[in-house]
Amino acid sequence: MTTLFEDKLNQLYDEVKNNRLGNVADYIPELANVDEDNFAISISTVDGHIYQVGESRAQFTIQSISKAFCYGIALEDKGLDYVLSKVDVEPSGEAFNSISLEAETGRPKNPMINAGAIAITSLIKGDSSNDKIDRIIEKFSDYVGHRLEIDKDIYQSEKNTGHRNRAIAHLLRNYGILEEEPEKPLDAYFQQCSINVNCRDLAVMASCLANNGVNPITGVRALKENFVPNVLAVMSTCGMYDYSGSWTYNVGMPAKSGVGGGIIAVLPGQFGLAIYSPRLDAKGNSVRGIEVCEQVSKKFGLHMLNTSKITSCAVIRNVYTGAEIHSKQQHPPHVLEFFADHGNQILVFELMGDLKFVSTELVLREVDQRSDHSNYIILDFYRVTLVDVSAFNFFADLVTRLDAQGKKVIFVGIHLMYYFLKYLKKVLPEHLFSRIKLIKNLDHSLEWCENDLLLNNNASSSNENIVPFNQHSLCYSMTKEETIFLEGLTLDRKFKKGEIICKEGDESKQMFFLISGKVRVSLEVGPNKYLRLGGFSPGNVFGESALLNDSLRSADVVANSDVVVKELFAKDIVNSTNSLANSVQNKLYKNLFSQSDRKLRQANLHIRTLNSGFNPF
Ligand code: DON
Repeated sequence: MTTLFEDKLNQLYDEVKNNRLGNVADYIPELANVDEDNFAISISTVDGHIYQVGESRAQFTIQSISKAFCYGIALEDKGLDYVLSKVDVEPSGEAFNSISLEAETGRPKNPMINAGAIAITSLIKGDSSNDKIDRIIEKFSDYVGHRLEIDKDIYQSEKNTGHRNRAIAHLLRNYGILEEEPEKPLDAYFQQCSINVNCRDLAVMASCLANNGVNPITGVRALKENFVPNVLAVMSTCGMYDYSGSWTYNVGMPAKSGVGGGIIAVLPGQFGLAIYSPRLDAKGNSVRGIEVCEQVSKKFGLHMLNTSKITSCAVIRNVYTGAEIHSKQQHPPHVLEFFADHGNQILVFELMGDLKFVSTELVLREVDQRSDHSNYIILDFYRVTLVDVSAFNFFADLVTRLDAQGKKVIFVGIHLMYYFLKYLKKVLPEHLFSRIKLIKNLDHSLEWCENDLLLNNNASSSNENIVPFNQHSLCYSMTKEETIFLEGLTLDRKFKKGEIICKEGDESKQMFFLISGKVRVSLEVGPNKYLRLGGFSPGNVFGESALLNDSLRSADVVANSDVVVKELFAKDIVNSTNSLANSVQNKLYKNLFSQSDRKLRQANLHIRTLNSGFNPF
């Protein structure tokens, strides 16, 4: 069954197929030897998915589309300033083969017209035209993901008839734009235009530009990322020659056409689109190609200047403090009281969606306005789908500012955001970058802040290490005699770090009083994939469901450190029938209920806070 998007593409193809306006190019005679009704559309997304309809494997020559990619190669080989000294970036508003040179310098107006393209090819590394074309084919093959070949017949045909280009090249030589005899760069130019591609190839090449210079299928970098915006910029302003204005107006995607009948368009960050149909309009652009792009842009709202995508205020999902929300680590009552008073020092921003310039500016404004009384600023990127380059800068500045205010910055869930991390590492002084806490999930970051806050306020001493049995919350309100009786029923057990104390599915026969060490409750959510449901520290009990019913354990309890517990088998307390035992039982159940009640209230508070959403006002 075809996907929805494939249906839409097939539908569009069928609609445009009937447009038989235009003529195949014949000023290069060999170009006319083509099935003029050939038609193909192909899309390559930045996550490496390819859609194609029509003659997407039919070979044709890349022609002027090569200019955009050669411009990137020249930038890599000679650098931005040198290339700009030879070729300008201004739309000429004239035809592709017009002699659009600056009056004084002879500098071609832009690298997309033939004059500029010939100058650009001369800048590509290589002592001979074959060396240059070898480099061009090597780079183009990185873009496409397989080796490309030259159509010798078309090359020869162009070479034999390329008098206008030859004239342009000699003019460029006359102005010193070409620093060598024109025939070498010209020959390389004729060869580059004669490279055979198909529509699928072009879509993949375009998607490399959409994917920051990296081939989304092979992962090979075809163009240095810092030159991608330069290539896309000249494609936006000059790629469709004296139709570029209307193109930007109607389609609004950087594009490049070729007289072989190809057109590529790029939606940065999303996909590369290619159309092949050799019938051209008077400006040398594929007629069906233009129609497809106009329709795609309109149907899917893809105009790059379309502002409806800006989702500024939806990027903050929730803001709350450590007084409202705690980690899943179970804390004894006195620690919860401490957090009720001091938890506001921990401030959490749950972010979501696309972090771009405006949306990130909003996050920074909120952090600035709300963090006066907080020393721990947690920024949770777990639900963030994109952090674009403009946001990188902002967050680096934020780290610098918060650190200067003595605050601790915790970034949650950015471990997979390679470029963001790389950027922070590059721009922040090492000591500053090393002070950012990078934690994989929000619960662990909350726990880290809680422990650090407790430590810095000496509020964790007794709780941290050992809590004697009689100080356990479940012994609350018991007399000394009752506590001794209950402790007498327990067995001392020790577990090594990593040991499983309770296994999911085991019968729950006993409960455990945690005397020292830490344990976690974890649920297997996939092969060797575990989710932490909670954690316990000394003074807490776990496995108490054994007292309530003989159900099976619903999760694993694992020692997070070396652990000492007192184990109480349900049968030992339930079956004791003397008055002391009865009184202990009653107090035990009462404390259990009030503990569950406290947990329930805590959970409701969490649910309310987590679902109250972000109120910017
Ligand atoms: O130099 C030429 O005329 C051809 N090799 C390329 C021209 C071209 O593709 C113009 N594009 N629309």
